[in-house]
Amino acid sequence: MKCKKCGEKALLNMRHHNMALCKEHFIEWVPEQTARFIKKYWMFGPDEKVLVAVSGGKDSLSLWDILVRLGYQADGLYLGLGIDGGINYSHESQRLTEKFAQERNLRLHVVDIEKEYGYSIPVLAEISHRGHGRPCAVCGLAKRHEMNRIARDLGYDVLATGHNLDDEAAVLFGNTLQWYPEYLLRQGPVLDAADGLARKVKPLCRFYEREMTAYALARGIEYIYEECPFAEGSQQIFYKESLNQLENARPGTKLTFYLKFLEAKRSGELFVAKDADRKGLHACTQCGQATSAPGLCSFCRMLEKVKLDSQ
Ligand code: AMP
Ligand code: FES
Ligand code: ZN
Ligand code: ZN
Repeated sequence: MKCKKCGEKALLNMRHHNMALCKEHFIEWVPEQTARFIKKYWMFGPDEKVLVAVSGGKDSLSLWDILVRLGYQADGLYLGLGIDGGINYSHESQRLTEKFAQERNLRLHVVDIEKEYGYSIPVLAEISHRGHGRPCAVCGLAKRHEMNRIARDLGYDVLATGHNLDDEAAVLFGNTLQWYPEYLLRQGPVLDAADGLARKVKPLCRFYEREMTAYALARGIEYIYEECPFAEGSQQIFYKESLNQLENARPGTKLTFYLKFLEAKRSGELFVAKDADRKGLHACTQCGQATSAPGLCSFCRMLEKVKLDSQ
């Protein structure tokens, strides 16, 4: 297979685009495309301050690399979750994230959940009895809360995460199989800002996971290969595997599934947007973060329960 641009040996064949590219042209193409998506979906402008949530994985580190290459003001945020799983998962991902930032002289904020709230994510999950033996629900809740908190407290305009097409298609697949209208209405590359909540964006949402792996390797980015040890056997992974089977039989399935969904949403033909964005929110009486129910937000409610139970 030869590079479409120069005829050299191709690094990657992207059957869904009918295009193969060599290493050099691939690492140029990825930021060009990202810049296009940032503009197309109105994610952020050149003067806005971006906080990139970095987990130490290939997607978020590549996103940070791309945004810096494109000249955006992008700082990082790493959340220490306290997950070991026999592979020292959190320590290792933190080490690689810090190394990435140091080598490139980038600004990284590190927040450790245990130092901040007294308990690591697995312990919080256990004593709050949430999530049926898996810490993932508590972890998601805590990550959202902390990303919003840091973005707000430090005055960032936008919060960027490394979700790729495989992530987004799997979430869409799950929400479609169960026909969750609120989730479907909210899913997309951009979630607008609301009272005290920064805008949230996913600049990599149109790249396949294998494209991001190829990018990270081609750029020499050192990232943590392991997935979170709690992800194994999850619903999300089952949806990803199912979509991979469809993709293998029909290249482009995932991309079409996601893009046609965005199109249908935008045209208003399939979905009528109600108050699905972030309207009608109240400030949490404890932390001040916007939440849909009056009183405490769900993160503070969980902490309250943990405190009561451990007394
Ligand atoms: P995940 O939910 O693990 O698939 O991660 C989705 C995105 O959330 C990643 O691409 C990161 O942008 C962000 N993220 C996940 N874990 C962390 C973490 N420990 N610290 C900061 N950001 C994270
Ligand atoms: Fe949060 Fe796995 S439980 S990353
Ligand atoms: Zn080439
Ligand atoms: Zn709160």
